[in-house]
Amino acid sequence: MKAMVVFALMLIFGLFSADLPFSSAQTIFNVLDYGAKADGKTDDSNAFSAAWKAACSAATQNPTVVVPRSKDFLVKGTINAPSSPSVWRGRNARRWLIFHGVTGLHITGNGTFNGHGSEWWDLIGSLGKYANSVKVENIHVKKVNFKGTTNGVRIKTWQIGLGYARNISFEHITLESVKNPIYIDQNYCDINGTRGNCESKSTGVHISEVTYDDIVGTSSSKEAINLNCSQSVACTGITLSNIKIESDKSGQQVISACANAHGTNSGVVQPKSCLQS
Ligand SMILES: *[C@@H]1O[C@H](CO)[C@@H](O)[C@H](O)[C@H]1NC(C)=O
Ligand SMILES: *[C@@H]1O[C@H](CO)[C@@H](O)[C@H](O)[C@H]1NC(C)=O
Ligand SMILES: *[C@@H]1O[C@H](CO)[C@@H](O)[C@H](O)[C@H]1NC(C)=O
Ligand SMILES: *[C@@H]1O[C@H](CO)[C@@H](O)[C@H](O)[C@H]1NC(C)=O
Repeated sequence: MKAMVVFALMLIFGLFSADLPFSSAQTIFNVLDYGAKADGKTDDSNAFSAAWKAACSAATQNPTVVVPRSKDFLVKGTINAPSSPSVWRGRNARRWLIFHGVTGLHITGNGTFNGHGSEWWDLIGSLGKYANSVKVENIHVKKVNFKGTTNGVRIKTWQIGLGYARNISFEHITLESVKNPIYIDQNYCDINGTRGNCESKSTGVHISEVTYDDIVGTSSSKEAINLNCSQSVACTGITLSNIKIESDKSGQQVISACANAHGTNSGVVQPKSCLQS
């Protein structure tokens, strides 16, 4: 994987580092000091691994692995989640990987993030949970294969949230028996930790300029496309283009469901689009 992925891991690092044996007072562990070439061609995996190990045995409270900006790192292999969030030992078990305060991070290549099952998948991807104002933009995801997952390309925002998520694209995605292949849930709420029966609210995170292009494969549920936007803050500028999703069960039909979703279609869109102009 050619990536600065580990940069993200460093952000959650503090969650478990404090419990590990201490051997050094150093706080900053720069991958360049551990031999990373950062030329985008040499395999930097060992340097990342060494910096990581050193940080894990640091004596300080908040050891930080530093991946310098404006460089191109090549990291090969799979990023594996621990088998269960319980290893986080009481810290925020809703987070395996978080990207916080990061701009200009590009992750490309053939690597794998292995979440090892639903204990981790169930936790990812919500905006506006704390009725805060969010600003998410210029997110581009391409060439991803989803196999047997609950969600494919999903944007989920809380009803009580404010702000926006815009200029987002999903391209060249393949799906194999995915339950919610294309999903916007702008009406998310929960009651005592489970998905609530959400009443309409006047707030919402405005979702706009979202493009889905070249998304093909199979769905394990009837709703292959579900664009469930808010009555008060509708989704705008959605583009569906070259979509071909079938049921994973022979002879069954899939459908698209839309609520307050506006935008345009181009090329083949199957199941038939329900976007409003
Ligand atoms: C990804 O895999 C494809 C097919 O195996 C290969 O052609 C391509 O060079 C790989 N890309 C990278 C960045 O490793
Ligand atoms: C959308 O994102 C792309 C890639 O980050 C960027 O080049 C483009 O300027 C953005 N568009 C807008 C309207 O911000
Ligand atoms: C949520 O949990 C609290 C405390 O257990 C309970 O008092 C309350 O009735 C619950 N609310 C709903 C809507 O289930
Ligand atoms: C859309 O969201 C509302 C509010 O949560 C929910 O009641 C409804 O069932 C959802 N519709 C679909 C098609 O998922």
